Amino acid sequence: MREPNDLSAFWMPFTANRAFKAVPRLLASAEGMYYRASDGHQLLDGTAGLWCVNAGHCRPRIVSAIREAAGSLDFGPTFQLGHPRAFELAARLALVMPAGLDRIFFTNSGSESVDTALKIALAYQRARGEGARTRCIGRERGYHGVGFGGISVGGIVNNRRQFGALLNGVDHLRHTHDHARNAFSVGQPAHGAELADDLERLVALHGADTIAAVIVEPVAGSTGVLVPPQGYLERLRALCTKHDILLIFDEVITGFGRVGKATAAERFGVTPDIITLAKGLTNAAVPMGAVAVSREVHDTVVNNAADGIELFHGYTYSGHPLAAAAALAALDVYEEERLFERAIALEAYWAEAVHALRETRHVIDCRNIGLVAGIELAPRPGAPTKRAMEAFHRAFDSGLLIRVTGDIIALSPPLVIEKPQIDEMFGRIADILNNID
Ligand SMILES: Cc1ncc(COP(=O)(O)O)c(C=O)c1O
Repeated sequence: MREPNDLSAFWMPFTANRAFKAVPRLLASAEGMYYRASDGHQLLDGTAGLWCVNAGHCRPRIVSAIREAAGSLDFGPTFQLGHPRAFELAARLALVMPAGLDRIFFTNSGSESVDTALKIALAYQRARGEGARTRCIGRERGYHGVGFGGISVGGIVNNRRQFGALLNGVDHLRHTHDHARNAFSVGQPAHGAELADDLERLVALHGADTIAAVIVEPVAGSTGVLVPPQGYLERLRALCTKHDILLIFDEVITGFGRVGKATAAERFGVTPDIITLAKGLTNAAVPMGAVAVSREVHDTVVNNAADGIELFHGYTYSGHPLAAAAALAALDVYEEERLFERAIALEAYWAEAVHALRETRHVIDCRNIGLVAGIELAPRPGAPTKRAMEAFHRAFDSGLLIRVTGDIIALSPPLVIEKPQIDEMFGRIADILNNID
């Protein structure tokens, strides 16, 4: 007989299932800046769930928008049919994207947004008569979700090695992390703009006329908060333009205020041709992703197509009514509370708190931008990742949710965080690090 609380059936994603199920840590509810665990103890959310609950948990306006939508139009297809909220949301989103990126394709996750963006890039090249441009270029340490496209351009070996040969013709730029020159940088590191020139090397190797697109996260989140060196994104943009290659920013994490503007593109003043979005789009209350595409890319694909369907791509739930309602309400909350600007308003205070950890035991680097921080620990000899995982468990048990990746603690709280909560978060982390081996 199965126990009613049997944990074995759920094969958990990106989880050490055996270890978790031996000592489960379950969340029961959430509100504002806090989770409540199933044993009743409260947790300060240092990670906005999984980089996604940007306006804080269970915001009443979003909750009631979802309730209302579920009771009026539970589902409506968007293949050869439509419903008003999906169009309204696309128009609203276009307004917060960088000028010119005003054509919106809906998906249900970041992974789907990435695969959609890569497919649109390929379709665009073919539509303009450059069908030999089939290569997609990613970057080492990039995380672009878990679709075959995303893991191919992604640069995390653990996410690739179980899955064979992946997408053809992909290549990678080097990552931008340079511990020797940039450790403890406040904001954008000074060194590394020249790493964008890797694209010239790949052009020399493969020929520009084989390359469709380059995809990067403007700030790499999942591999431990890698902030772009000063001038790097500008240089990459210039090289893509020079060689007629599309530039895709994967803004699944950086979108919706994480770095102080609606997008990292706006924050850094560099406009790509395509932006991928998800997470904060609905404040994570309903799964949804989106791809913002430049008018030029969209029009080239659409206007060069024969009569009928222009892009043979889409998801049953593209523009789902509940997700669209949640996203519209989330955009209202972001706008009314000026949350996109909040990460900039708090950035200096946040940076000071982050870098105060410099002298803390085990810390070998601190990095920050907007309301994001990476705190890198020295790995335990012979046992990499174990120290950070112990810190994660201790933090959870003491009432703080952090995220760890390798030996890096990554922090990205809801944008509604207050200064005393920032103090509490870093105070607790210092305490934990000073008390573990
Ligand atoms: C930059 C980036 N792209 C894509 C994804 C994948 O998103 P999802 O897990 O919603 O598929 C993530 C998830 O963390 C991400 O950080």
